[in-house]
Amino acid sequence: PPLDLGLNTASLIEKFPMFSALDEAERREIRTLLRPRLAFPGEILIRKGDRGTSAYFISSGAVEVATGRTKVRLGRGDFFGEMALITHTRRQADVTALGYCQLLVLEEAEFRRLLKSNPSIRERIDQVALERQQMNVGE
Ligand code: CMP
Repeated sequence: PPLDLGLNTASLIEKFPMFSALDEAERREIRTLLRPRLAFPGEILIRKGDRGTSAYFISSGAVEVATGRTKVRLGRGDFFGEMALITHTRRQADVTALGYCQLLVLEEAEFRRLLKSNPSIRERIDQVALERQQMNVGE
């Protein structure tokens, strides 16, 4: 049998409450949109001011988000990189891997497809992006 390192997309998706509420057919569709990627300690994943072309879900590990004065730590089950795609603005923070991180990457087209076909996921992501936006106002 093939060696299972626990890194297949199906098992990575199980870590997200946002996805586990979906039925099997919906999960199967989402699996086709996500690409697994391992990030290394200290790796810069997003640079503030860049154009954004992808969003990321964290399956394991942690990242540091630095908007300016504020530093926020995100971990398993969190996502980042959604703001540039939702608000059509430049990246609003640097994002750096704090250790080894298993990520699920969504390119822009796949991100839009995910939001379009899953209103409950869209609502959740929009809400978090709005809260982050408000947190960053006046920085
Ligand atoms: P984006 O602006 O595309 O790229 C940087 C990302 O950092 C941003 O999307 C959010 O996902 C994340 N981010 C920005 N500000 C905050 C914040 N205040 N708290 C948590 N995450 C943030």
